[in-house]
Amino acid sequence: MTDPVAGRSPGRASGAHLPGAHQWLGIIEEYRDRLPVSESTPVITLCEGGTPLVLSQSLSEETGCEVWLKYEGANPTGSFKDRGMTLAISKAIEEGSKAVVCASTGNTSASAAAYAAKAGITCAVLLPKGKVALGKMAATLVHGARMLEVLGNFDESLELAKDLSEHYPVTLVNSVNPYRLQGQKTAAFEICDALGRAPDVHCVPVGNAGNISSHWMGYSEYLADGMIAEPPQLFGFQASGAAPIVNGAPVKDPQTIATAIRIGNPASWDKAVAAATQSEGGIQSVTDREILSAYRRVAREGLFVEPASAASVAGLLQLHQAGTLRRGSIVVCILTGHGLKDPEWAISGAAHPITVPPDAAVVAGELGL
Ligand code: F0G
Repeated sequence: MTDPVAGRSPGRASGAHLPGAHQWLGIIEEYRDRLPVSESTPVITLCEGGTPLVLSQSLSEETGCEVWLKYEGANPTGSFKDRGMTLAISKAIEEGSKAVVCASTGNTSASAAAYAAKAGITCAVLLPKGKVALGKMAATLVHGARMLEVLGNFDESLELAKDLSEHYPVTLVNSVNPYRLQGQKTAAFEICDALGRAPDVHCVPVGNAGNISSHWMGYSEYLADGMIAEPPQLFGFQASGAAPIVNGAPVKDPQTIATAIRIGNPASWDKAVAAATQSEGGIQSVTDREILSAYRRVAREGLFVEPASAASVAGLLQLHQAGTLRRGSIVVCILTGHGLKDPEWAISGAAHPITVPPDAAVVAGELGL
């Protein structure tokens, strides 16, 4: 959308004062020719995407591979959902929608609320009562969304959201909305653009299974256009207490500390299986213990993620231990969301701070300096 004040696209600095000055414009402008938008599509953006791809020294050394971490927590609302939401909300506005709805384990709702606020439309969110991290509820509320807590789990909340969108004038912005996957596929483009090729192995957490499906879409499109020579193998990781795809049947009462992926009947089940099969990868499960261990490990490398995000790294280590990884492979693990929205596990696992007087000698003593 044209900036009403400056009369130009958001992010295009006036007359670029510095040589080479450039602001990342968000995924719609950066990948416009690969997305279902036209000149008349209003662009509702918070400049999402363009997230860091960080080389992990320790994971590379341990696995004998080149391991990169794609830090999706650096998106404006702290998760990869923003990539899909910019497009879903922009298209909803283009189609004349005045209200959007989603079910969520917390990140989708935070993202929907932020982009709806930017667009100036109503956002309603349905959250499984008592199962959403406090920071995600805060992020959803602060943008002015109408929050309803459902006496049921995520899967039941999603059925309710679908039902509403079928019978009332409100657009569904869960990942069953095709524009969500279209936007999220840009993570695969960014990875290839940064590496100059596709990775050999791509690891991603799986909940409702939209993200793995969208990444496969992205790699497939780059492959079809000759942008990459080979696609990666895609490996998706569910939490073992919420692993319907791995078990081959829906899980009625999914359980995991990784609340973002506490999902028993993923909407994009078939697409996720197709992505894993066609790429010669797989969908596997990791235990909560493995997730927490990976969570602490990436934190010790400077990246604060939420537990669900660490499922990709837990999965990578599992692949390594099983001897699945070829030495020297280029691997990308997607870290899907920021840790600040769900800090409980960071605090409970950490040493308690010591109280000190404002006295340098005492502080130095405590620090062993
Ligand atoms: N990681 C995080 C941090 C998530 O929030 C989600 C999904 C996933 C991974 C799984 O991605 O669903 O595309 O397979 N969160 C959704 C939500 C369900 O409501 O925020 P997926």
